[in-house]
Amino acid sequence: STNKLEDAKKAAAYRAVDENINFDEHRVIGIGSGSTVVYVAERLGQYLKDEKYHDRVAQFVCIPTGFQSKKLILDNGLQLSTVEQHPIIDIAFDGADEVDKNMQLIKGGGGCLFQEKLVSTSAKTFIIVADHTKKSPEYLGTMWKKGVPIEVVPSAYVRVCNDLENKLSATKTILRECIGGKAGPVVTDNNHFIVDAHFGDLSNPEELHTKIKLLVGVVETGLFIDNASKVYFGKADGTVEVMK
Ligand code: A5P
Repeated sequence: STNKLEDAKKAAAYRAVDENINFDEHRVIGIGSGSTVVYVAERLGQYLKDEKYHDRVAQFVCIPTGFQSKKLILDNGLQLSTVEQHPIIDIAFDGADEVDKNMQLIKGGGGCLFQEKLVSTSAKTFIIVADHTKKSPEYLGTMWKKGVPIEVVPSAYVRVCNDLENKLSATKTILRECIGGKAGPVVTDNNHFIVDAHFGDLSNPEELHTKIKLLVGVVETGLFIDNASKVYFGKADGTVEVMK
């Protein structure tokens, strides 16, 4: 049920914070986007209210990966900052759309992509929080069926789609459109578009990432390679599996 999935996300996020935050050493914390990381911010907010931790957590500065994330930081009473002010992040937490056995990730399903990669690759430690449905039994693309999200410069999206299909053998490319609300393309927090590209085979995500990245007009890919330090998967029975 939905509640069980929410419980799984919460369990993963709480455990990830409890096990990885070093209250004496960490100062700069990256906060990602999506429905799971909500519980990371909630947990940090709880520590802020706890007198034993309050003074140290009040010193934390949090770096967001987008608008939703910025709001999460503020709503939980945490200090907001920028990656320009803090280009080295002690630890970052984020969700994922799919995680394979080598901890390679697909991200960007929620429309934050470049900003998530900027924050996660600026972090000394990058912790993924996810429910069990994100764990791939095999290659990437087994669980996440919506293609590889790719952030592109708006005027180049047709060119990028053509190159993906003609040069990189994408089977299908789709410019992501808003569902409900406004008609038209999804615009990222950095004013780019997102193309979701389907490939027959995602067994070599490193190689695919590099090839996509070299196309003119591509800002960043949703393949997060050798980036995650640990993954916390919340399960339906309330337990949490840690991958490292
Ligand atoms: C945002 O663009 C994504 O990379 C999210 O981190 C991802 O979709 C995870 O979201 P959930 O925690 O809601 O699954």
